[in-house]
Amino acid sequence: MKPVTLTRFLLEQQRRPDSTCPAELRLLIETVARACKAINHAISKGALGDVLGSLESENVQGEVQKKLDVLANDLLVDANEWGGHLAGMASEEMDTIHPIPNRFPRGEYLLVYDPIDGSSNVDVDLSVGTIFSVLRAPAACAGREVCEDDFLQPGTEQAASGYAIYGPQTLLVLTLGTGVYEFTLDRELGAWIMTDGPIRIPEGNCEIAINMARRPQWSSEITHYINERLTNEKAPCGRAYNMRWTGSMVADVHRILKRGGIFLYPSDSRTPGKARLRLLYEANPMGLLIEQAGGAAIDGAGRVLDIQPASLHQRVGLILGDAAEIRTLQDIAVTA
Ligand code: AHG
Ligand code: MN
Ligand code: MN
Repeated sequence: MKPVTLTRFLLEQQRRPDSTCPAELRLLIETVARACKAINHAISKGALGDVLGSLESENVQGEVQKKLDVLANDLLVDANEWGGHLAGMASEEMDTIHPIPNRFPRGEYLLVYDPIDGSSNVDVDLSVGTIFSVLRAPAACAGREVCEDDFLQPGTEQAASGYAIYGPQTLLVLTLGTGVYEFTLDRELGAWIMTDGPIRIPEGNCEIAINMARRPQWSSEITHYINERLTNEKAPCGRAYNMRWTGSMVADVHRILKRGGIFLYPSDSRTPGKARLRLLYEANPMGLLIEQAGGAAIDGAGRVLDIQPASLHQRVGLILGDAAEIRTLQDIAVTA
């Protein structure tokens, strides 16, 4: 069978009678995918390209920026600014939103992204990624510049989301709200070739991803659930759960999409509202992908995609993966 490129997949999605992919969205996704190729190229040069290490700067969240955080952010801004598909962008590495400058045509979409996810891993040659979410600019912002409030939409409103993963292979994993598809970068051709999809999360894999060092901050419910799963030999697969934690959410989520299991970065029970991951450019795009692959994504209480954001860099507790396991977690948690 002839390989299906990303370009062909998007065109065929656009032509479907029930299409969720108008031409403008197709071209936007192609642009993001092109920027991810450039990011992949920079990362793969490593020390030879002088791209490793930290800068003296901090982002708005007080995190030291890596050279690649800033480089990847700039590559995404430069690639997407002039295409005419966007009204504005927002990113982990920009304090506030980036409206499309007046010298370029303005489009109907908003792009929100984490340019390098897992950037603490970049200097030690572990997998990192780029996460993105596409929203529609609200009708109310026609005729005026976009503002931060325009970006504060629940995850259910996403037109598309995805990630690139820069690992042993470079992949692009994408949803337009009609299933999840994986494309592998053919480095010789420079083309993204479909290698999996529609992806369904395999059920019943007894594997957990959590940072155990944060244990003192967990709620009694999460502590109870983890203890139960790591020690109880009567777990569904007849043995205690296995554990994996890469420190790159993209890598952990990709493993869950392909192999099953559950990922937890719960909010801090001692400091109400304190959590690690960001709602708009980490939890929401991953939540949509996971739901589209038959899984579930909750903030500990309810569905992540239903949360009405209050600010651009808002953080949120995140538990995602195998839907049945998340239901079990909620059952175990109530007995804590
Ligand atoms: P980022 O590099 O964009 O700041 O995100 C890192 C996130 C996520 O990728 C990962 O799951 C988590 O932070 C790792 O946290 P720990 O440092 O607690 O392991
Ligand atoms: Mn991140
Ligand atoms: Mn990041």
